[in-house]
Amino acid sequence: MNEKYDASMEKVKKYGQEHLLKFYDKLSKDEKEKLLDDILTIDLQQINKLYEQTKVEKNFTSSKIEPIPYIDKTKMSKEELEKYEKIGEHEIRKGKYAVVTMAGGQGTRLGHNGPKGTFDIGLDSHKSIFEILCDNLKMAKEKYNVTIPWYIMTSDENNKETEEFFKKNRYFNYPKEAVTFFKQGQLPMVDEQGKILLNEHGQIKQAADGHGGIFVSMRKNGIIYDMQTRGIEWVFIGGVDNVLAKMADPIFIGVAIDEKVQAVGKSIVKVSPKEKVGVFCKRNGKPSVIEYTEITDEMAEARDRNGELLYGESHALCNLFNIKAIDMFSKDFLPYHSAHKKASYINEDGNIVKPEKPNAYKFEAFLFDAFESLDNMAILRVKREEEFAPVKNSEGADSPETARELYNNYWKNK
Ligand code: UD1
Repeated sequence: MNEKYDASMEKVKKYGQEHLLKFYDKLSKDEKEKLLDDILTIDLQQINKLYEQTKVEKNFTSSKIEPIPYIDKTKMSKEELEKYEKIGEHEIRKGKYAVVTMAGGQGTRLGHNGPKGTFDIGLDSHKSIFEILCDNLKMAKEKYNVTIPWYIMTSDENNKETEEFFKKNRYFNYPKEAVTFFKQGQLPMVDEQGKILLNEHGQIKQAADGHGGIFVSMRKNGIIYDMQTRGIEWVFIGGVDNVLAKMADPIFIGVAIDEKVQAVGKSIVKVSPKEKVGVFCKRNGKPSVIEYTEITDEMAEARDRNGELLYGESHALCNLFNIKAIDMFSKDFLPYHSAHKKASYINEDGNIVKPEKPNAYKFEAFLFDAFESLDNMAILRVKREEEFAPVKNSEGADSPETARELYNNYWKNK
């Protein structure tokens, strides 16, 4: 064999992952190279640690969780709105504002075969989600006479298809040079015994490592540097799946500046305790989000004296950051959360297994865990019917049908 193989063998033995080389001889030359490169670059110690953490039960008793104060946009006077708008508009016009769309997820729940942004929610115009989002930037270009830089985070899995979709659609008539793609990171998936899975090509099965990797990826891919050189001060970071996301909202920026904070998150009143959204809170005195997969029933259902949900400010995944905060976040990895998922793999006998139930762990970092490194951030409560129409599931709640209706109702009167 060769030196690289020997080093890989030594490494996998050290971390109890020898099975990764079991089918090495059956691989082509290129596949062999790729497998060895992956083994040598992946932090196997970290993967083993992450697997060990899956056995530790999570609870909130060690953290002090409290509701977080918020600013209610729906109750602002005309003068207040104008004040914030003026401040924000000034920043946008000066070219100090950029937008990042996180589009690295798999969109499994939607059942769409392709990047979620390419999905047609069934509007009369048949615009894709990417085009709907881009409309925001085109309107801002008209209104403020400035081209807002648009950065799109993809993953290994969907980067090629996403870029091709933009090309094919001529960037929806937005200036091509204002659009930049960058890839997020990925991590291996492990089985219930902590063994890293191999995919059908005999390679390490990797999955997108969650949108929390965004800050490190922005640094690695030169995005932060690019923003700094362009003089960007404020960055909106949003998911790809909200067709009512206001991607160039001067009031959002105005609030950040007026409140003297480095981040603002938009919140929407939760429709019911069971709605699948994270909620803003204070954790040990710091701004934070409790994800819907982690909140206890008791907390989700708790109400205040007015009968409002105590933890009812849902995280719309529409957040604004100062470039300095992004720069700070990018220097460290955020903690990983594990998700129990179904994942096909090749077993010890070299056969493909397609499990019927969850058999593996996927590790993901969440962008909002970065909030805890800020002393403070502002939460801006906005109206659901104006700003939140997520496309998550193929039918029922948060489906193309609900999003289409919300979208059409909103634009009907504009
Ligand atoms: C998300 C939020 C939740 C929020 C809700 C609002 C997370 C973990 N939770 O829930 O707090 O209330 O949206 O709609 O985000 N993505 C990537 N890379 C990844 C994973 C996701 O770019 O590795 C992107 C997706 O493309 C999508 C967004 O992040 O745009 C949300 O991801 P998803 O996993 O669907 O989150 P939700 O469970 O819907």
